Amino acid sequence: MREQWGTRAGFILATLGSAVGLGNIWRFPAVAYENGGGAFFIPYLFALLTAGIPLLIMEFTIGHKYRGSAPLSFSRMNKKAEWIGWWGVFVAFVISTYYSVIIAWSISYSIYAFNLSWGEDTEGFLFNEYLQISDAEGIVGGLVPGVVIPLIIVWVIALGILFKGVQRGIELANRIFIPTLVIIFLIIVIRALTLPGAFDGLQAFFQPDFSAITSGEVWIAAYGQIFFSLSIAFAIMITYSSYLSKKSDITNNAFITGFGNSSFELLAGIGVFAALGFMAGQAGVAIEDVVAGGVGLAFVVFPQIINQFPALNGLFGFLFFASLVLAGLSSLISISETYVRGLSDKFGISRSTSVAIGGGLAAVISLIYATNGGLYFLDAADYFINQFGVALIGLVEVVAIAWFMRKLNVLRDHANTTSGIRIGFFWKFSLSIITPLVLGYMMFDLFKLNLL
Ligand code: PHE
Ligand code: NA
Repeated sequence: MREQWGTRAGFILATLGSAVGLGNIWRFPAVAYENGGGAFFIPYLFALLTAGIPLLIMEFTIGHKYRGSAPLSFSRMNKKAEWIGWWGVFVAFVISTYYSVIIAWSISYSIYAFNLSWGEDTEGFLFNEYLQISDAEGIVGGLVPGVVIPLIIVWVIALGILFKGVQRGIELANRIFIPTLVIIFLIIVIRALTLPGAFDGLQAFFQPDFSAITSGEVWIAAYGQIFFSLSIAFAIMITYSSYLSKKSDITNNAFITGFGNSSFELLAGIGVFAALGFMAGQAGVAIEDVVAGGVGLAFVVFPQIINQFPALNGLFGFLFFASLVLAGLSSLISISETYVRGLSDKFGISRSTSVAIGGGLAAVISLIYATNGGLYFLDAADYFINQFGVALIGLVEVVAIAWFMRKLNVLRDHANTTSGIRIGFFWKFSLSIITPLVLGYMMFDLFKLNLL
């Protein structure tokens, strides 16, 4: 019999664990700030309601109805559609190879935090001392032991959890990780809010620029954020929902996951900007001069902020990087489960074998990014995935289901048998018209940008 979640809370914590990740902590605050600040919430909420939650409902329904990982579920829907599932699995595989590396850095930094080992020049420390990027940029040199060791730890933990299975591995891990993460993060946010200058940071963050709403780019940013942040279109949510018991309320679960992830995102935005406001105040510069996202925010700017904390610097530094580790690990587990399950569904091999083969291969490939040219490859892989992976799979998935296979009515009826919340016209319209139009425009825009 197929494995199942032990409890409803277990499933919700696991999907939240997948959704809440680096995207919430270091991507959302910067994206919102750059795309209209307070006004960004309008396109963002629109994207959540017309694409995020409808797609979550769709993917949960697919997994629940067809009871397979993405390739198996798609092939059960229509033999010719199996490749869509594999495509999602492939993208998830690639993401896992570099997502794991960032978790490894966070492990190192959570230890460096105790002695503030990064010193004053946090940028120089990251690139020269920690990552050992040689002058010959982009050339693969030797492995960097300081990265390789935590990277091995990351994979041992992630694959160890997957090895244990759905209930005793994934569910148990998320039951521990997610509540811990929420508590740690609340402590950080409350501390950040009570720092001098915090209010200026919040003002900069929420200051609405309503002219942004008329810009297509801002809408693209909103949809892009929702897709990445909710882990949709990557085969993940289909796989996780294939372990639901028959009597699970699909629609309700999708709302909880969607709003839960966005709440965490908002919380992260508040915490990050409160901290940035503090830092700008200490340095006597404008907030716009210290705003960053991604690697720069977490590993260059945050160490500087932590240096200036009035007290308990080491502890807060540790908590910040520990929150990245927990958020990252629970997402990594979900991405890796797509290929672990995909392989075992396809070839009838055991979970342990597919963890060893799929996870082992991902772990070995991830070593590329642990060399002193690694950052260059990481950047390239991330760029490639974001440009050609995310939006394109989402588009292919909805168009295939809504227009080629015409499965929306079947899926709607299935979801409605499970839930008191009935979906109907609005859901269908979102998936068959709004989402394809926005994603199509997004693709058109990307190709245009790349060709010119
Ligand atoms: N949703 C995760 C985040 O916000 C990232 C992620 C993307 C996880 C794709 C799995 C797959 O960081
Ligand atoms: Na997220």
